[in-house]
Amino acid sequence: MHSLVTGGAGFIGSNLVDALLGEDPQARVTVLDKLTYAGSLENLRAWGPDRLRFVQGDVADLELVQGLLEGVDVIFHLAAETHVDRSVVGAEPFLQTNTVGTYRMLEAARLAGTPRFLQVSTDEVYGSIDQGSHTENDPLKPSNPYSASKAGGDMLCLAHHTTHGVPVLITRCTNNYGPRQYPEKLLPFFLARAEAGEPLPIYGDGQQVRDWLYVEDHCRALVFLARHGQPGEIYNISAQGEKTNLEVTLTLLERLGLSRELIRRVTDRPGHDRRYSLDSSKLRQLGWAPRVDFETGLDRTIAWYQANRDWLERIRLDSAEYRKFSEQYYRERLSSSTAFFPR
Ligand code: NAD
Ligand code: TYD
Repeated sequence: MHSLVTGGAGFIGSNLVDALLGEDPQARVTVLDKLTYAGSLENLRAWGPDRLRFVQGDVADLELVQGLLEGVDVIFHLAAETHVDRSVVGAEPFLQTNTVGTYRMLEAARLAGTPRFLQVSTDEVYGSIDQGSHTENDPLKPSNPYSASKAGGDMLCLAHHTTHGVPVLITRCTNNYGPRQYPEKLLPFFLARAEAGEPLPIYGDGQQVRDWLYVEDHCRALVFLARHGQPGEIYNISAQGEKTNLEVTLTLLERLGLSRELIRRVTDRPGHDRRYSLDSSKLRQLGWAPRVDFETGLDRTIAWYQANRDWLERIRLDSAEYRKFSEQYYRERLSSSTAFFPR
């Protein structure tokens, strides 16, 4: 099988490349990635040019994408701007990549007649849910510019399927964690800061609920759905093991042997969804189930970051983009923060 993985130099994309090339010695992958601040060739260094073709470029570049599709059996479309806090500060790149870029990918697939297209989407498009879990039939109600831009991409996928017969299926997954996640997302952000003795900014009361899935389980679901999913269908992917942000943070600190006094309560994120929850029984009935529980996955994740301190420090210390955002965004919040667990 020859797969095109967009966003393959990012967190989930690079883990997906490992899954595709690791499970089948005949498999070939083309990665198309713009190498934004979130992507790095370092994430793909395990694979040589005999198995992996890397192309630096933009998913919104229709001509470029068309030129890559000959002989491609399946497109895994992951390239996106992904950080909610950045979308609060400025949404233009999110619309350009997540919505317009997805449209151009669909057009390229239509013109090339690519046999399968997986739109890798998120639980966030459904919005917050107080009780119960979203099924694939629920309406979309995104709360922030990131999720709205992903919802726009999802809608275009369904339209391209209905109007043009493009064989698209949509996957919507809960929060991922694992090796190579960019350290602006909760777990690696807090891990790196805690180890450096820096305060951990929890938004609001820390009682927001997320359902954490180990990245390898997500990638196995994507490979599985490329084979067994039906075009035109939507599949939720979830661990069904929800935790509050405070629980996740306390478990992390306990595993690291560090004090909970590092936790600070900061002003909440605007538009912050209280709870995400997905019903993934449609996918589970086809035969997929997660294999890695949260404790095991967390231990593996911590072990990876500790064995790859250079990867983390290169971003934290060398990346101007990283410092600019994290300093601007958190300096003010932390200066007016309060201790979560006062001495
Ligand atoms: P990431 O931010 O780690 O990586 C995104 C990658 O896309 C980067 O390598 C970046 O260089 C590339 N990219 C960005 N804009 C591009 C463009 N215009 N053209 C080509 N490449 C571009 O993201 P991630 O966490 O790995 O997420 C991957 C996908 O999975 C996204 O579509 C996201 O919406 C979805 N998703 C993520 C999660 C999660 O918890 N991380 C959960 C559900 C769904
Ligand atoms: P994040 O990793 O940004 O993923 P998402 O917003 O897509 O769920 O955040 C996970 C949760 O952690 C979310 O409820 C926001 C919260 N959070 C904090 O409380 N403080 C932080 O510094 C960050 C980055 C996230």
